[in-house]
Amino acid sequence: MNNEKLFENKIGVIGAGHIGRALILKLLEKGYPYDNIQLTYNGSIFTFSDISDNNLIDMISSNAEIVKTSSILILSVPPQSFKPIGFFDLPKDLLVISFMAGITTETIKKQTGSDNVVRIIPTGPDTITNSQAVAGVYGDNEVAKELFDLLDFDYVMVDDEDKMDYIAIAGCLPAIYCKVDPESDENIEAVNKISEEFPEFRDIAKKCEKLVPEENRDEFVSRVTTPGGVTQAILNGLIGGKSLYDSLLMGIERNKELSNN
Ligand SMILES: NC(=O)c1ccc[n+]([C@@H]2O[C@H](COP(=O)([O-])OP(=O)(O)OC[C@H]3O[C@@H](n4cnc5c(N)ncnc54)[C@H](OP(=O)(O)O)[C@@H]3O)[C@@H](O)[C@H]2O)c1
Repeated sequence: MNNEKLFENKIGVIGAGHIGRALILKLLEKGYPYDNIQLTYNGSIFTFSDISDNNLIDMISSNAEIVKTSSILILSVPPQSFKPIGFFDLPKDLLVISFMAGITTETIKKQTGSDNVVRIIPTGPDTITNSQAVAGVYGDNEVAKELFDLLDFDYVMVDDEDKMDYIAIAGCLPAIYCKVDPESDENIEAVNKISEEFPEFRDIAKKCEKLVPEENRDEFVSRVTTPGGVTQAILNGLIGGKSLYDSLLMGIERNKELSNN
């Protein structure tokens, strides 16, 4: 595929944390021009160190600058950090791709000023790095699709935004399967029940079984667990002795709460 046109876009990544950095590194691996990517973060020395280790220092920008210069804006801050960024005042047609759990298209449109918003929730950063990410997408845009193809995402399009709640918990399954055996009756029951509401869940869950690492599972879980996020809510349910199904429902609840932040 010829990506020449796609590569002309100036991509701005607001929030170069685990997901943001995995995206940038995959884009570079695929030949995306370094000079056409900018990033921001919130001043953490650990994040800076990672940015430096990956030779991304020259991409560092500010949120104020990035919203002026980007033709594709990627939002990968924690959902709780989105509102405090304030209003973006983007042109109406500027493509905004949000990786944030919870935050709805309507909220993103209001805060950014863009009417051209696509939401995507992938499995974690390691799966992006390994070209194995499974994702759900809400919002139709050809350039976004080209970008997702470039990133090797295996994604389903969701026609109703409410269903992104199920995608949000599906994205957590590789981490959850580090704690719960996917072959267990508990998992089979949970997947069956959720698939009654969202039939695509069964297929996504099956794919997520293959994304569980063989080793260093605790490190893997911590990399995919955004503080205060959906994975953490599900894990809290399991730690509190709830069934997997009830814990997944807690994840859905958390995703809804995040949308009200
Ligand atoms: N992790 C996953 O597996 C996963 C899967 C699907 C979707 N998501 C979604 O992806 C998003 C990012 O998750 P993550 O795990 O990558 O989180 P993360 O590692 O905590 O990264 C978030 C980044 O946002 C930065 N940030 C916070 N406030 C900012 C601001 N005002 N301006 C610029 N940058 C700011 C943080 O900067 P500092 O580092 O300086 O604090 C951090 O680098 C979340 O919305 C989450 O719902 C995550």
